[in-house]
Amino acid sequence: MKIDGKSWRPIWVEADGWAVGIIDQTRLPHAFETRRIEDLDGAVHAIAAMQVRGAPLIGAMAAYGVCLALRAYPSDGALDAACARLLASRPTAVNLRWALAQMRAALRPFGPDADSGKRVSAAYARAAEICEADVAVCRAIGEQGLALIREVAAEKDGAPVQILTHCNAGWLATVDWGTALAPIYMAHDAGIAVHVWVDETRPRNQGAALTAWELGKHGVPHTVIVDNAGGHLMQRGAVDLCIVGTDRTTARGDVCNKIGTYLKALAARDNGVPFYVALPSTTIDWTISDGLADIPIEERSGDEVTTLTGRNPAGMLTEVLIAAPGSSAANPAFDVTPARLVTGLITERGVCAASEAALAGLFPELAGGRDGHG
Ligand code: MRU
Repeated sequence: MKIDGKSWRPIWVEADGWAVGIIDQTRLPHAFETRRIEDLDGAVHAIAAMQVRGAPLIGAMAAYGVCLALRAYPSDGALDAACARLLASRPTAVNLRWALAQMRAALRPFGPDADSGKRVSAAYARAAEICEADVAVCRAIGEQGLALIREVAAEKDGAPVQILTHCNAGWLATVDWGTALAPIYMAHDAGIAVHVWVDETRPRNQGAALTAWELGKHGVPHTVIVDNAGGHLMQRGAVDLCIVGTDRTTARGDVCNKIGTYLKALAARDNGVPFYVALPSTTIDWTISDGLADIPIEERSGDEVTTLTGRNPAGMLTEVLIAAPGSSAANPAFDVTPARLVTGLITERGVCAASEAALAGLFPELAGGRDGHG
């Protein structure tokens, strides 16, 4: 996608052919800064500190983390240690596990006795493929979702299609396009009037900070709302549909996404608003069915709840305390929306019901798989 006319992706290989460049998402929207990641420590930190975030992008960063680790120590032991550290960097998004499995599979023919240069080259080649595949898949999700938005637009007589989204499932969260935002970008580019209600997404404000920034850069009309406003807007008929992303979707269609997604799904159901989840098949965890029982929910620091960072009138980034001093805070980062509350899953192969049969019908070669894509 473009920022002020220049094409960007949130991750790339630097001109030297080995270091990895990223947009530091902890600085947006106040400052646009890139970082150069040169080793495994840097890759683990980028994921854990959320310089890169969003399920597909975390997977891409992990793949390049393996490359950087192997470049330093091309042994099997180093590979195992790198994968273990990367896997532990954030627990909920299954793309991390998927990407590491992909990297291990690609490196299998290059055992410890193989030429280490070839092993490292194979790693970079596979990481690049993972990134390009993500772009193609997100584009396809966009096309599938565009058809849905077109259908709604046909009923609106030129009035904007009102879409509510939560967190950031845009191009910053993937390698390009995004998942939930891809259909919105395509609808806007196709001349369909759209307006997006952007949940601020406390505590880290991925909506207010990242989604609003992305949409603004692309010229998509949008309004930031507090997380608690969605139900009210739905009661007033101001939301035509919700589209959100997911960090892990179970084989039967339970969806784990940013904390607060479940409440939006409940409000949507109560108000007859369609609730769609956009996802690449890489976020389906075919090994589990029950999202509530089986998905590990990341617990982050309570400091993210009790403090806020923003830009003060002097233009400086400032952190302020917003809670009563001394109060403790809990910070579960994700929640699970049961499949029964999901109107449909927008995947790269089509829109389907959130059910085991429908997912298996779209992805027969993956359903029942032990570790996603093998
Ligand atoms: O904690 P984050 O910012 O990594 O959470 C991201 C989300 O919840 C997204 O909705 C999800 O990863 C889908 S991204 C295409």
